[in-house]
Amino acid sequence: MTEPKPRLLSGMQPSADSLHLGNYIGALLSWKALQETHDAFFFLADLHAITVPQEPELLRANTRRTTAQYIAAGIDPSRSTLFVQSQVPAHAELAWVLNTLTGFGEASRMTQFKDKAAKQGQEAASVGLFTYPILQAGDILLYQAVDVPVGEDQRQHIELTRDLAGRFNSRFGDTFTVPKPYILKDTAKIFDLQNPSSKMSKSAESHAGLIWLMDEPKVTAKKIMRAVTDTDGEVRYDREAKPGLANLLTIFAILDNRSIESVVEEFAGGGYGALKKALAEVVVGTLEPIRARTLELLDDPGELDRILGLNAERANEVAQQTLDTVYDRVGFLRRVR
Ligand code: TYM
Repeated sequence: MTEPKPRLLSGMQPSADSLHLGNYIGALLSWKALQETHDAFFFLADLHAITVPQEPELLRANTRRTTAQYIAAGIDPSRSTLFVQSQVPAHAELAWVLNTLTGFGEASRMTQFKDKAAKQGQEAASVGLFTYPILQAGDILLYQAVDVPVGEDQRQHIELTRDLAGRFNSRFGDTFTVPKPYILKDTAKIFDLQNPSSKMSKSAESHAGLIWLMDEPKVTAKKIMRAVTDTDGEVRYDREAKPGLANLLTIFAILDNRSIESVVEEFAGGGYGALKKALAEVVVGTLEPIRARTLELLDDPGELDRILGLNAERANEVAQQTLDTVYDRVGFLRRVR
């Protein structure tokens, strides 16, 4: 008999009309490879998206657009389970149970909340934004996922998930698989091209340093040519002293599937201009087919909705099983049918 494949789960928020290069490198690229070796679940985290205000029609459109980008980047919905979080009610239900097991102080230490709340102003931040990581823990635990491929910025949320799984298991008996973060070390964080001390993020004040998957190739090339570097002009990898250049070298190496050393070797002595020009070609060469395929897929929204509906059925089956066990273990009286 063949061993069942290990379970994997990951998701992104459909909170913009395009994913950015950080999402692509930090998440999608590894998802695509991992779906070969895993029983993979990928989802659109729309429940998470509404932790900050969203325009309803835009959220719906962005959910389809993000789905199309997943598929265009290589996620195969006939092999992986690709679904929308709000189409599986168990996510919100498990989150409630986990909320009751999370300490207020524990939740207060989550740095993503602190960053986002600081941007919005503490008073404007919602309680949903505060409990965001607990919903995320529920996402992972519902599917008994072993591997959770995410960027470095999500490490703390995965640690919280592990703590909550352990706490539930020791209090109510073995119920959840304790997941591992699956973070590709060096490549796990892509920085803003204009502000290379901050991660590339859709919540950045200016979008000049963000590469969007759905940008026109000309726009992408221009953003790369204008990327902030430094004044010494020497092509070498030094994350501390030359963060802008280090970020460009990282992006180059990953997308061109080679080592950072080999990129440095090729462009040493050539100055930043030549490196940027070649990088623009590599990035456009990677993203342009994804953009074109996304636009094609978006021509038939009904088909996208149908794929998501079918996949939600499978997701619901798995999630409901876990939720039933949880409800039973915590002592809820089951409805007689
Ligand atoms: P989101 O939508 O903010 O980010 C989606 C994924 O992209 C990665 N990422 C980056 N990687 C490298 N460099 C960057 N600059 C960069 N920016 C974003 C993130 O690490 C993430 O993997 N909370 C999650 C969504 C989520 C989730 C889950 C993930 C909800 N439930 C359960 C895994 C499992 C998030 O931040 O999405």
